[in-house]
Amino acid sequence: MRLSTARILPFISVLHFACANNLHHHRQIVAAVSSSSASGVPPATAASSAASSAASSPLGSGVPLSANVSGTLLPTPTGPTPSFSLVSQNPTAVPLSSIVVNAPSAATQIMPSPFPAGTKPSNIPNAPGLPDLSTFSAGNYPALDKPPPTDSPQVQQWIQEVSQSGITIPNITATVAGGCPANPVAAADTSRCWWTCGGCTREADVTNCPQKLQWGLTYDDGPAPYTPDLLNYLNQTNLHATFFVVGSRVVSYPGLLQQEYLSGHQIAVHTWSHPSLSTLSNEEIIAEFGWSKKAIHDVLGVQPTQFRPPYGDIDDRVRAIAQAMNLNTVIWSRVNATMTFDTGDFDIHGGLTNVQQVLFNWESIIANAMTMDDGFIVLEHDLFQQTVEVATGYILPDALASQPAFNITPVMSCLNHPMGDAYIETNDNASNPLPVSSNGTSGTSTNSSSSGTTKHNGAIVRTVPGMDALGVVAMAAVLGAMAVTV
Ligand SMILES: *[C@@H]1O[C@H](CO)[C@@H](O)[C@H](O)[C@H]1NC(C)=O
Ligand SMILES: *[C@@H]1O[C@H](CO)[C@@H](O)[C@H](O)[C@H]1NC(C)=O
Ligand SMILES: *[C@@H]1O[C@H](CO)[C@@H](O)[C@H](O)[C@H]1NC(C)=O
Ligand SMILES: *[C@@H]1O[C@H](CO)[C@@H](O)[C@H](O)[C@H]1NC(C)=O
Ligand SMILES: *[C@@H]1O[C@H](CO)[C@@H](O)[C@H](O)[C@H]1NC(C)=O
Ligand SMILES: *[C@@H]1O[C@H](CO)[C@@H](O)[C@H](O)[C@H]1NC(C)=O
Ligand SMILES: *[C@@H]1O[C@H](CO)[C@@H](O)[C@H](O)[C@H]1NC(C)=O
Repeated sequence: MRLSTARILPFISVLHFACANNLHHHRQIVAAVSSSSASGVPPATAASSAASSAASSPLGSGVPLSANVSGTLLPTPTGPTPSFSLVSQNPTAVPLSSIVVNAPSAATQIMPSPFPAGTKPSNIPNAPGLPDLSTFSAGNYPALDKPPPTDSPQVQQWIQEVSQSGITIPNITATVAGGCPANPVAAADTSRCWWTCGGCTREADVTNCPQKLQWGLTYDDGPAPYTPDLLNYLNQTNLHATFFVVGSRVVSYPGLLQQEYLSGHQIAVHTWSHPSLSTLSNEEIIAEFGWSKKAIHDVLGVQPTQFRPPYGDIDDRVRAIAQAMNLNTVIWSRVNATMTFDTGDFDIHGGLTNVQQVLFNWESIIANAMTMDDGFIVLEHDLFQQTVEVATGYILPDALASQPAFNITPVMSCLNHPMGDAYIETNDNASNPLPVSSNGTSGTSTNSSSSGTTKHNGAIVRTVPGMDALGVVAMAAVLGAMAVTV
């Protein structure tokens, strides 16, 4: 049974309210009369719907769904379904009624061709020129969207480099698929600092921007067919973002990655095949990081210094391996178990949420951001038509009209670092020492993972349906399907 919008919409009374002018940007959060759960269906039903919805995605079918997702992974229904609607500030916005599961595919722009070898980004003075992509071939990489084999000479070399990095990888057992309920021992073990179950972070993890009203703008899972629409909007509005890219997508769309980079956006790592990293062996994690770093390096000539774990699934073992490969962790802002700065945009495509809920989440994020002493980082995606449409039509125009104004920048910029620090090759090693020095020994900041203190922030956060293991299922299906359809 697929979760259709028809099952959700009856619970929602959508209210539109115009913004008379941009100086006083009216917001209102409306609770509808229904007492259904936030997603409109009981958790167990939503969980099984997730699997069938993903399997019947227009992107493809027949994708195996291995996880037996437990309904208890969804948040307990806490009250009436909220609904929310915005009048878009963008005259070319797609109507909200069109941003739905199974929406007809909008036309895509022509993918940019690779740029001439030697082209340099104007925002990084010491950047090397772009590589020559005339012989670039997907055949030089592992199978797309699958965890890469660990017995290749290339991965064996990365494993050796990690073992010689000077970073100690804690001996923590891998988790099993299924999130916190499937891993009661690991979930209760606070010493591993597993973000998935409890939101633990270490001092070195980036979860917020330092200054109030600063927004570290991020998009995950691309580059993808509708990314050019997002890039156009960002260009028109003079905004720059951090793109956490999936290595497999980089291999599919190298010209698009170059365009992101040359347009002043920050490129960061989001693994090769988008797994839950805590479920993998050390060697498999190294292969995921290594191939995504290599793909980006082959296309841009630089390797990112920041990464985001898919689903936020990180513990001290994953942190240590990331550090040993010179990747610093960026997650997204979180206040408590049900309240993270995740718009939920990813789930529109699979029918697990709707655009009204996403706008409600967004408005709740803003409301909380206004009360925080520091800035914030929000999770959004450029993978799907729906996620790009809600970003360019609603979330970003709303953010730009907001008063007091947000300072919207890539993550590296909000941390008050030059964009050169986003890449190993251009990093200012004097002011921004990386965990592993160029001669293969650990640098000065390697203690923060396994022995660091946990970090808390005291902001107020909205309630939003989490994705956790549901997202794992949906993402596996989507990535598997995209490999054949786009
Ligand atoms: C799958 O989940 C259902 C419902 O939680 C449970 O009863 C069943 O035992 C699970 N099956 C497997 C193979 O884990
Ligand atoms: C890692 O821990 C396991 C038990 O959890 C133990 O069997 C193994 O010997 C440990 N390995 C090392 C290298 O300490
Ligand atoms: C927008 O794109 C044009 C054409 O590529 C470019 O000249 C301009 O600098 C871009 N503006 C921003 C803010 O990135
Ligand atoms: C920083 O060190 C890396 C090697 O770890 C090197 O590739 C890079 O060029 C250095 N940065 C600068 C600005 O010299
Ligand atoms: C090698 O790394 C160590 C530790 O960071 C540093 O003290 C040393 O100067 C480095 N040597 C070279 C040649 O870069
Ligand atoms: C790392 O931790 C050890 C023991 O906890 C301590 O002795 C050492 O000074 C720390 N190193 C750094 C760079 O903080
Ligand atoms: C999370 O934080 C929000 C805002 O402070 C609060 O309303 C909500 O009750 C909290 N939820 C939990 C589970 O603590």
